[in-house]
Amino acid sequence: MSDVFKPEKLSVARSFGQSALHYDDVAVLQKQTGDELLDRLSLVTLSPKRILDLGAGTGRNVVALTTRYPDAEVIGLDIAPTMLQQAQKTYRRSQGLKRWLPKQKKPVFIAGDAEHLPLADNSVDLVFANLALQWCDLAASFAEIERVLQPDGLLMFTTLGPDTLHELRAAWASVDNYPHVNVFYDMHDVGEAMLNARLAEPVLDMDRYVLTYQDALAMMRDLKVLGASNVAQGRRRGLTGKKALAQVTAAYEPFREQGLLPASYEVIFGHAWAGVPASQIQQGDGSVSIPLSELTGLSR
Ligand SMILES: C[S@@+](CC[C@H](N)C(=O)[O-])C[C@H]1O[C@@H](n2cnc3c(N)ncnc32)[C@H](O)[C@@H]1O
Repeated sequence: MSDVFKPEKLSVARSFGQSALHYDDVAVLQKQTGDELLDRLSLVTLSPKRILDLGAGTGRNVVALTTRYPDAEVIGLDIAPTMLQQAQKTYRRSQGLKRWLPKQKKPVFIAGDAEHLPLADNSVDLVFANLALQWCDLAASFAEIERVLQPDGLLMFTTLGPDTLHELRAAWASVDNYPHVNVFYDMHDVGEAMLNARLAEPVLDMDRYVLTYQDALAMMRDLKVLGASNVAQGRRRGLTGKKALAQVTAAYEPFREQGLLPASYEVIFGHAWAGVPASQIQQGDGSVSIPLSELTGLSR
């Protein structure tokens, strides 16, 4: 991916930090994919001692993981400290008085970057990452995940594919030449990055989600609250003018169906194990093989 399209770290942290308070009101997609990822996780028999929720956001999945694995220490890690403050509140609200019981394992919240995890080697049994890796350099993040995972540890994640928000991308393309929607890795790039990081038996599949809106401005407001406003390095600086907004809104109209405007998301689901078997190490000619069609179950 060209640097021009790479998200800027500070912008990502700032953007998500600003949206932390209202994030849960509009995080419809994140709830759906998070629940699906948790469902998939229930197909695996695991007794993790330590779990990392990477890019934990407002902590919904930290609560779910703490409930599902009461003996595990759950770490909620996020680059935006304001998100972690919200996550702490989410956890407290979910527990009520239970959290004061002596045996209750409380989650730990850590501010940190997926590309430089502040965790020891081989210290985590499960990494759960719902819609966070699309903001990160995949090679660096997968290498870090592999480093912190125990040899038999599991990574489960979702990320966004390149067809995400294709309507908005097309609408902006008719207005100017700046990138207004982040560029996302495709499934092949994701699989290759996993194998390069020596993650074993990677399995990837893709699902499409369509959210609908009354108008394009409502949709763009949601994207902002979700911290998903464009944070690419080559973006146009400064406020988007009224004229450009009117133009992009008009250019979005042809996508309207049954009275509503669609916003499409291509969601990539993936999992892999730490400790790559020799048979899966990348070949000398650079080729890699991902057994997508063969591997459907999650048990190892
Ligand atoms: C779309 S939200 C998803 C939050 C949560 N996983 C959920 O399911 O609701 C993405 C989160 O990833 C965090 N994030 C983005 N880049 C990150 C990075 N490099 N390291 C850690 N967290 C990051 C953001 O601050 C944000 O809270």
